[in-house]
Parts: sequence; structure tokens; C-alpha cells
Amino acid sequence: MNPLKRLGRRRASVLSLLAVAALVTPGAASAAPDAVRASTLGAQAAQSGRYFGTAVAAGRLDDGTYTGILDREFNSVTPENEMKWDTIERSRGQFNFGPGDQIANRASQRGQRLRGHTLVWHQQLPDWVKAIRDANTLRSVMNNHITQVMNHYKGRIYAWDVVNEAFADGGSGQMRSSVFRDVLGTGFIEEAFRTARSADPSAKLCYNDYNIENWSDAKTQGVYRMVRDFKSRGVPIDCVGLQSHFGAGGPPSSFQTTLSNFAALGVDVQITELDIAQAPTAAYANTVRACMNVARCTGITVWGIRDSDSWRSGENPLLFDRNGNKKPAYQSALTAMGGSAAVRRADAPATRSAAALPTSFRWSSSGALIAPKSDSTHNIAGIKDPSVVYYNGKYHVFASTANASGYNLVYLSFSDWSQAGSATHHYLDRTAIGTGYRAAPQVFYNAPQRLWYLVYQTGNASYSTNPDISNPNGWSAPRNFYSSMPDIIRQNIGNGYWVDMWVICDSANCYLFSSDDNGHLYRSQTTVGQFPNGFTNTVIAAQDSKYALFEASNVYKVQGSNQYLLLVEAIGSDGRRYFRSWTSSSLAGSWSPLAASEGNPFARSNNVTFPAGAWSRDISHGEMIRAGYDQTLTIPACKLQYLYQGKNPDAGGDYNSLPWRLGLLTQTNSTC
Ligand code: XIL
Repeated sequence: MNPLKRLGRRRASVLSLLAVAALVTPGAASAAPDAVRASTLGAQAAQSGRYFGTAVAAGRLDDGTYTGILDREFNSVTPENEMKWDTIERSRGQFNFGPGDQIANRASQRGQRLRGHTLVWHQQLPDWVKAIRDANTLRSVMNNHITQVMNHYKGRIYAWDVVNEAFADGGSGQMRSSVFRDVLGTGFIEEAFRTARSADPSAKLCYNDYNIENWSDAKTQGVYRMVRDFKSRGVPIDCVGLQSHFGAGGPPSSFQTTLSNFAALGVDVQITELDIAQAPTAAYANTVRACMNVARCTGITVWGIRDSDSWRSGENPLLFDRNGNKKPAYQSALTAMGGSAAVRRADAPATRSAAALPTSFRWSSSGALIAPKSDSTHNIAGIKDPSVVYYNGKYHVFASTANASGYNLVYLSFSDWSQAGSATHHYLDRTAIGTGYRAAPQVFYNAPQRLWYLVYQTGNASYSTNPDISNPNGWSAPRNFYSSMPDIIRQNIGNGYWVDMWVICDSANCYLFSSDDNGHLYRSQTTVGQFPNGFTNTVIAAQDSKYALFEASNVYKVQGSNQYLLLVEAIGSDGRRYFRSWTSSSLAGSWSPLAASEGNPFARSNNVTFPAGAWSRDISHGEMIRAGYDQTLTIPACKLQYLYQGKNPDAGGDYNSLPWRLGLLTQTNSTC
């Protein structure tokens, strides 16, 4: 977006002459090979916002082959035995966190998620607990164990298996006999979950079990009834873990149905202990695909790394052989995550298939979802230029705040769009990002560096980094990508402004796009390894007349295809903002029109309906809801959603004081 005063009036006569020919790439650097598909399990899973984890044994952490695979392939870790009761509280009131800490600290240092396993389970339970016959004693022992353990790991656990394996095998559909059920009654599960929620409200609370993968099994139905009952009564539960210890036949044919049905109750589902006898490739692919096809299946954990690490080692059920080599099942699991429509969006339909982008678009718009929130030191007229990722169960939105005196940045997060309007606004001028001109943010996770980046304009192209996107105070002070404006921009910018910096990487290079409000889209490049340093070779990536190729460019990778999508904001013959679109098979390639005219726009008032009232005629600077959150900026090919800035069509006056609000477009002509 333009930092300074902007013309409010446009001349239709000039704009009606806009050409919509293919944009050329003068002097482009040679195209990088298109190989965006990730080459490790964790990175591929992350492209759809999921994790791919493994069980880890503290005793193997000095084995270099083991840790080499662990750190290369997995972005989530579950201690195999180290957080179980017989390790942590072998004697009453004496807590031993040593082995659990070894795994937890190592995972935190490497940015791997941690699943906590497990608080209340009838196995690996010390005899002193099993011997308790008095309900009050057992209740306080159980609650104390949950509280002490969760307190110790507070804030560091993504999801806890609060209760493990409480249901009986066979046809009863009831809870199994255990000291907990026998002494406390079946209400012990509810009690455990309530205690867990107050101990660490930041952890997702899961019920975990095996043989609940086949939908029609009595055990599955018993667990389903419990979760449904918990949700209806407000008992805190966030996820169901399906252990998925399969025989050679792999998952039952109803597996995806089971995942979807649990998810439809309003919980996440996770595959928590996957291993399959003899590791058939199809069985692994089917299991992984079932998770990818269910929006709320948030991740997969295999129960060990090499076959020799497995608790079922005689059955060779894992993805790596005894020497640490990838088995065929590894490749099929990886392919199943990349090949199909791997989408992660909380409100998405459960099942999708892969598809290319259409050549025309239709959208339905929400009302204005996010408005500025002023406080005693921030008097804000407009909220603009949003950047958004869905990560860890939340949308994280960064935006410009505008008023007559200039621009700065704001951050908010919320779990679904109905909450967007009530989210707290964190003003980033109070952080190390600082006061003064900062605008048009773009956020992404740099997976190789395990670091979040916020890219924004300050007159230069600047960035800050943060290890934790949810901590607004964690951003570093601004640093510049360039020592000064590249010559080619200086030579072409005319009376425009250097705005709207955008970073996207493929597997080899990162590219920095920017606009000049004068008809030019620029592109610089560096290697993934050198990023954020070394941006050079700045070229004109696309050009057209000034208003036809104005600003706010976005570039994305389309999931499951070799297509990149370019969106650039234009100013139409009616003086209103809209988006044009192009595709290319390479980030450094030339761009061919997709929906690039006023008659066939990417998003413009003429292809958007407003069921809640036409609150805006501008579809201006915004961002797609991505399939993942990393530097590849991967978007789904289906059911696109676009967060944009719009404003009351009657508003006028000083450009910086216009009442911009944020709304969400949802594609209505998706065929997949
Ligand atoms: C297993 C471990 O893999 C073994 O090392 C240990 O001896 C027994 O427990 N369900 C669970 C896991 O929830 O904790 C179990 O792990 C496997 C079955």
C-alpha cells in the first residue's frame, strides 16, 4: 500500500484503455527448477499446517543415526515412556522429570512440537496407585499427579493425552475395569479433563485409545458417545487420539469416516501411535491420506523411527529399516501428503480432491469482520493490508493501522472468524518493531530456520523475526533487506512509491517482490540458505500501465500443481480497487493472464456477492488463506478464501484517514 497521500479520483477515460495482454519478463534471471514439494515428512506435513511426529526414547538420544533422522524428518515428538506415571511418580509425591525433560528440552530447542503422553492410564502405573481403595485418596492422588506434571511442562505441550485406553475391547462399548473406574466410577475421565484444563489451559486435551479406528466397532461408538456427551455438557476436551496400531491389512475402510465423525463433534483428531505390521506401502498411504482428507486431522505420529526401535520390532512396522534407511512405506507416506489435496482449514469441508485453478472466479463476501480499535494512544482510522496464517488452531492476522499521521502495525489472533471482531489488538509500535512508518506486513514461517518472519515496508523493505508467532513482544527490531533502493527501481519508479514487499521461496531460492505504484512489479532473489541476506538481481517481473498493475502483489504456490499464482491490485475504470491474476510455472518465469480483466477479474465488485450487505465496492490489498504457513506460501486449489480490505463506498477525503475494514471472500465456483 501507498505510504503517503493517494489520489481519491480516477479517470475512467484513461483506464478503460487498459491492455490485458500477457505480462513480459524483461531481463529475467534464468528460471529455477520447480521442485517445491518438500522432501521430508515434517516439512511436507507443515505445508498443510499439520505435523508429522514420532515417539522418542530418551535412551536412544546418543545414537547419531537415530537423532539424525529425528531432526531431519519430524516436527513433533512424543516421549515413548518418559512421561508415564511409573517414570514420573514412581513413589507417591516424588516426581522425577529427568527423562521427560531430556526429550522435552531437546524438542523445544529444535522447534519440534511436543505431545504429552500420558497422565491417567491403567498401565505403566505404579503398584502404590493400583492399591488405593479409598475414592477421596485416589481422587486427590490423580488430580495431584495431573496438576504437578502439567505444571512442570506448562506452556510447552501442544497436546496432552489426558486419559489413555479407558475403554474395553470387545462388544460392550463400556469403560474397562481399572483402579480409576473401579474406585472413582466412570466420572474419573471427566474429572481428569477438568483438572487438566485448569492446570495448563494452553495445551490441547486429548482422549487417546486403540481399536477405535473402525467406525462400527462398539469401542469406537463408546468413545464417540463419551466425546459427544463431553462436548454437549461443556466438559473440556479438544482432541481424540487414534493410536492406529494396525495389522498388515492397514486401516479399516471406514477409517476416514471415523476421523470425520469425531471431528464433526468439534474436536481435532490425531493419529498418535501409527505402526503397521510389515509396513505395506498402500496401508501407510491410506492411513496418511485419510488424515489429509479431514481438515481437523491435525497431525500424525509414528510410534518409533527405525524397525529396531519399535515395540513391535518383530513386525518391522515403521518407516525406516534397522540401518536407518527409508523403506518404501516412507515414500508412500510422503507422497500421500503431497499428492492429494492436502488442505488445512478449520472450516473446510471434510473431503477434497486435487484440482487446478479455474479461469474465472466467483466469491461471496462476509460483512466487515475486523474494524480498527483505538485506545488512548492510538487513534486509528483504518485497518489495512492484512497478512494471515492459520497456525496451531488459530488465525494470526497482522495488518497496517492508518490515520492522518501515518502507518504502523497491529496483531490479533482468534480461533474462528466469528471471533475476529472481538479479538484484542496488539499494537506493534510498542514492541521492538517501534514507532514510525511501518506498513503492509506479510507473515510466514521460515521452516529451515524455524523462525517466523514479518516482512513490511518502511521506505526500505524491512523484516523482523520471532520464534513464537503468538507473542507480539517477541518481534525483533526492523532490519533492511537492501542497503538502498535497487537501481532498476530508482530508474522506473517515476512519481510512484516503493511499496508492498512480498517474500516467497521455492526449494532453492527466495524471491522478494515489490511494487512502485507506477506499473512495475519488481523481483529480487537470494538462495534459501542465504535468506534473509543476499537479495540481488532485481528485475522487472511484470509491467503494465500504472493503474492496471498498481500495487499489493501476492504470489503463491498452488498446492498439488506446478503452478504459481500472481495477484496484483489494480484501479478499475470506476476508480475502485480490484485484483487481477496470472499464473506461471516458475517464480522467476513470465506470467500468463488467468482472470486478469475488469470483465473477468480475480476479485472485483462484479464477481463478488454480499449476502450481508454490500459494505464495500473496493476489493483491495489482502491475502489468501493459505494451506500451510511456511515460506512456500502454498494455497489450496479449491474453495479459496481471501482476506481483503474494503470500505464504505461513500467515504472520501484524506487517503490515510479512509475507514478501511477487513472482510473475507469465499470462492463459490470451486469445482472441487
Ligand atoms: C509402549 C511403548 O512403546 C513400550 O516401550 C512400552 O514398553 C509399553 O508401552 N499404547 C500406548 C503406548 O499408549 O504408550 C504404548 O507404548 C503402546 C500402546
